[in-house]
Amino acid sequence: MNAVIDDIPAAVARKRVLVLRYSQSGQLDAVADQLIAPLREDGRFDVRIETLRLQDEFPFPWPFFRFLDAFPESAHLVPPPLAPLGLTGDEDFDLVILPWQVWFLAPSQPVTAFLKHPVAARLLRGKPVVTAIACRNMWMTAQEKMESLLADVGAHLIDNVVLTDPGPTLATFITTPRWMWTGRRDGFWGLPPAGVSAEQIRGMRRFGLALRDGLLQDAERSGTPLLAGLRAVEADPRLYISERAGTRSFYLWGKLLRAAGAPGSTQRIPLLALYAVFLIAIIITVVPVSLTLQAVLRPLMRGRLAALKARFESPSGSGTERLSQYEH
Ligand SMILES: Cc1cc2nc3c(=O)[nH]c(=O)nc-3n(C[C@H](O)[C@H](O)[C@H](O)COP(=O)(O)O)c2cc1C
Repeated sequence: MNAVIDDIPAAVARKRVLVLRYSQSGQLDAVADQLIAPLREDGRFDVRIETLRLQDEFPFPWPFFRFLDAFPESAHLVPPPLAPLGLTGDEDFDLVILPWQVWFLAPSQPVTAFLKHPVAARLLRGKPVVTAIACRNMWMTAQEKMESLLADVGAHLIDNVVLTDPGPTLATFITTPRWMWTGRRDGFWGLPPAGVSAEQIRGMRRFGLALRDGLLQDAERSGTPLLAGLRAVEADPRLYISERAGTRSFYLWGKLLRAAGAPGSTQRIPLLALYAVFLIAIIITVVPVSLTLQAVLRPLMRGRLAALKARFESPSGSGTERLSQYEH
């Protein structure tokens, strides 16, 4: 039987790759486009793109309260329903590519909605999945949630690439919300532009080339990463403590808000206003205090930080040994 399969010309036995897409500003679409370009340019791959849509789309740019109002359901992983998918769940893919963004320290609601959809459970069971994140810079607790969502549907996460905003953390706490609320991402008042850079996005192509080579050798079946040695992710474990505090706060306040009313209901607005003040206070106190404390305690925390870094850089890692092969 195997001999028959091996005899099929490459042009017939094309590798099937599913790419899920969702992006509000176009940033994550640009990341996905660079990543999959080498597969789409090559006749040996059948690349199916599925764009996620919600029944009621979130606006972009976001009105201020609408933005805040998205945190309880983001943190509790209870997104609104998706519009009908173009997939039935009976399709069979060799590899699934899932680019995703972080919303309130959790996978964005449309991506969560997909992973909780019955079709995802059928499509992803036992399948190798490559994820790619583009976000401001706090993605580690969201990654924990992504890993459990993927485990729930029986998918195998074989690689994860992360692009974060190259600006300083405190600057991005201003530039990212401004981008989300106005649609403007240019630099202002000496602050850098919001979002990941054009160069970071162009650099995604190296991962597409490595996926192409890996898939042509059936390496996706091995369960081992295809994107090691390409500087796929550099985790800053010092942010993890702030993220944990933020996640806890989103979870507890989210519970309160969800008890107060459904998304969009007016009963939520006073609580959201209160939370906005609380959140700003947290950002300007907890994040710098936690970073300063960690700087002071660094010698004592070295082991723990190294373990966190290794844990969040897995499976693809921050190694660079194959870069010269794929960067031209
Ligand atoms: C509602 C909302 C919450 C967000 N929360 C976070 C966050 O917690 N951490 C983070 O690094 N980025 C956060 N971002 C930024 C996104 O991860 C992402 O970079 C940005 O929305 C652009 O994605 P797009 O391609 O969908 O436009 C948030 C964005 C939105 C809209």
